[in-house]
Amino acid sequence: MFLSLAILISIVVSQKIDEVLKTYEEKVKAKTQELENLNKSLENKITQELEKNREKEQLLVQKSKFIALGEMISNIAHQWRQPLSELSSILMYIKFKHSINKLDDKTMQIKSEEADKVLDYMSHTIDDFRNFFMPKKEKEEFFLYKAIDSVMTIVSSSLKSDKINLEINLDKNIKLNTYLNEYEQVILNILKNAKDALIEKNIKNPSIKITAYEEKEYVVLFIEDNAGGITVEPKGKIFEPYFTTKDSSNGTGIGLYMSKIIIDKNMKGKLRVRNTKDGAKFGIHVPKSL
Ligand SMILES: Nc1ncnc2c1ncn2[C@@H]1O[C@H](COP(=O)(O)OP(=O)(O)O)[C@@H](O)[C@H]1O
Ligand SMILES: [Mg+2]
Repeated sequence: MFLSLAILISIVVSQKIDEVLKTYEEKVKAKTQELENLNKSLENKITQELEKNREKEQLLVQKSKFIALGEMISNIAHQWRQPLSELSSILMYIKFKHSINKLDDKTMQIKSEEADKVLDYMSHTIDDFRNFFMPKKEKEEFFLYKAIDSVMTIVSSSLKSDKINLEINLDKNIKLNTYLNEYEQVILNILKNAKDALIEKNIKNPSIKITAYEEKEYVVLFIEDNAGGITVEPKGKIFEPYFTTKDSSNGTGIGLYMSKIIIDKNMKGKLRVRNTKDGAKFGIHVPKSL
């Protein structure tokens, strides 16, 4: 009697335990399902965000190309101002001679030769610019001073018109084997910023200095100005996308962000900045060979 009661109790108890276990099991299953769902939706979210980020980068690249294009046009306009006025005075001279019936063959020949020379110069400028902005994705071997020269054909007249003194001190033997176009683009960005700062701060004797030195595996190019330096802290902020202290018609905050991507990621180098007692000093460190 006692025994069968015990058996009965143990059966009931074990049934109860089974029931409890079952509900737990179901609960755990449900929770696992929930977790799995959460995991999936997180994964989806991450993919979505990554996609968004990629689109954003794409947009930034697009935008920076537009800016470069705008700058190119404004630089050509600068470069052409002088030859255009020369052409106009040649034309005026010819018209004048003609109006007083003194346009002889000799004058005509001299003046048209002069005009041809100017036109040649103008078409060269266009070639320079075209080569400069043609994106070439392959690395190539080049002399550092040649890269600087080619940037100078783009900016020198606009620097001159703002009376900015330019000092270039380079060892002509320094060679690099990397993405030339992108490298030049970065130098151009930094020069443009220096020019902006010098003008904005209305510096008395505005000047930009370019120097370089060679290490074992790196070439370091310095570009420094005397515009008072980076005012924001931490200074690294200036490399963030859309960070600008200029008004919307003058600044986009993309230049240095793109430059950093080019140097740090594409060229496996380092783009740095620090303040000197006079202004900002950018250092572009790139491996001699990629
Ligand atoms: N040479 C410099 N001197 C002082 N400030 C600078 C200099 N170069 C860059 N900056 C600062 O860094 C910011 C970001 O530069 P950048 O990314 O080229 O964008 P943007 O020129 O469109 O403002 C500038 O707005 C400026 O405040
Ligand atoms: Mg800029």
